Amino acid sequence: MSLVQDETRVRAEEALRSVRVRCMACGAAARADRPAGQCAVCGGLLDVVLTFDRPLARDEIGAGLPPALRASGVWRYRPLLPALPSAAIVTRAEGNTPIYWDDRLARFAGLERLGLKHEGHNPTASFKDRGMTVGISHARAVGAQIVACASTGNTSASLASYAAAAGLAALVLIPEGKISGGKLSQTIAYGARIVQVQGDFDQALTLLRQLTEAYPIYLVNSVNPFRLEGQKTIVFELLEQLDWDVPDLIALPGGNLGNTAAFGKALDDLWNAGLIDRLPRLATIQAAGAAPFAAYFASGFDRYEPVVAETIATAIKIGNPASTPRARRAIERTDGLVTTVTDDEIMEAKAAIDRAGIGCEPASAASLAGVRRLVREGALAPEAKVVGVLTGHVLKDADAVVDYHLHDRDGRPRPGANRPVSIPAEMAALERTLADALHG
Ligand code: F0G
Repeated sequence: MSLVQDETRVRAEEALRSVRVRCMACGAAARADRPAGQCAVCGGLLDVVLTFDRPLARDEIGAGLPPALRASGVWRYRPLLPALPSAAIVTRAEGNTPIYWDDRLARFAGLERLGLKHEGHNPTASFKDRGMTVGISHARAVGAQIVACASTGNTSASLASYAAAAGLAALVLIPEGKISGGKLSQTIAYGARIVQVQGDFDQALTLLRQLTEAYPIYLVNSVNPFRLEGQKTIVFELLEQLDWDVPDLIALPGGNLGNTAAFGKALDDLWNAGLIDRLPRLATIQAAGAAPFAAYFASGFDRYEPVVAETIATAIKIGNPASTPRARRAIERTDGLVTTVTDDEIMEAKAAIDRAGIGCEPASAASLAGVRRLVREGALAPEAKVVGVLTGHVLKDADAVVDYHLHDRDGRPRPGANRPVSIPAEMAALERTLADALHG
């Protein structure tokens, strides 16, 4: 047993020798045979370095892989991911998420057609699983024993699940009272050690970064470039589903900005691998009360100011996004857009997505609300081909659904709301309640 483990370790170390990270601030490169939270020289953000000696053919994707990796919507893109040793890979067949094309939602946005790629179809019901499979696999490859994140709820649920699958100890810092019950219960259920910080997400992440610098604890927040490598596959899969017909715009919600950064890197890698010959524009949508990146964009990327975040979309309630420089690079390279939507716009878009039978959590609906706003403002033509990303499942925040349908913000019944009614267990009462439907 120990011999096998030793052999695995040696092979893992050999494989890792070829994987490198590079600082986007100072350019210093390093081997990725240790945790890669930040640049050891200047503290900047790291990128995983991928080079392509020759163009990749589309049919090389998914070819020649063992079944467990082929079944994953992340690992099937292995030639476009860092070469982590197979023995270290922890996968739960993540990814493989659908794109919904719904005419009602296209009309809602003011577009002729609109696709919504639903990342809530992942094992722990958010896009985080795509980054987590790569992050946790790298953690295993470098021999980490404890993995940790600060989270608004989805990263923690995903980390807890993948750490359990990998047999690693998981530590989670969450802002106390500020994450949804569904996400908290997932994290409890999967057995992570949960520390509630009396502060906001930004303070929790600052604390955790201090902790992981001082102790041998592997940081899995999206400052970790391996997380972003997994999240790139949302774009890979989306383009493959569109038969590589590159859309005009891809819209996504922005919180800590890891996903915006990952989408930019995905497009760079696809370009460098010769798989696409044109780039879609990226549009990052922030909640108006948590929009430091939108303000930075509006200043022509001249002035950046963190904010104290406030929004109903707790997943993106973040005032000082850790991946800001990477996200800026992604927006600049794709001639992208950054805009904001109010909580009311988010909830209205969410109600439309829910009502179409698709469903998503509030933060996800920022994609649709943002696209609608861009169309209204004339930044996006009605005939543009657009795909929005829904980042999390409707059940992630059940309270948000019930609250919305029970009453409006002033406590009055909301027009068009779907309020459950209560009756005694009698046929007459049931008939009375359904009179409209029964008698036309
Ligand atoms: N949508 C959902 C459902 C999220 O959970 C998050 C981030 C985002 C969008 C924003 O993505 O941070 O890459 O810009 N959630 C993190 C968490 C912060 O801890 O679960 P981002």
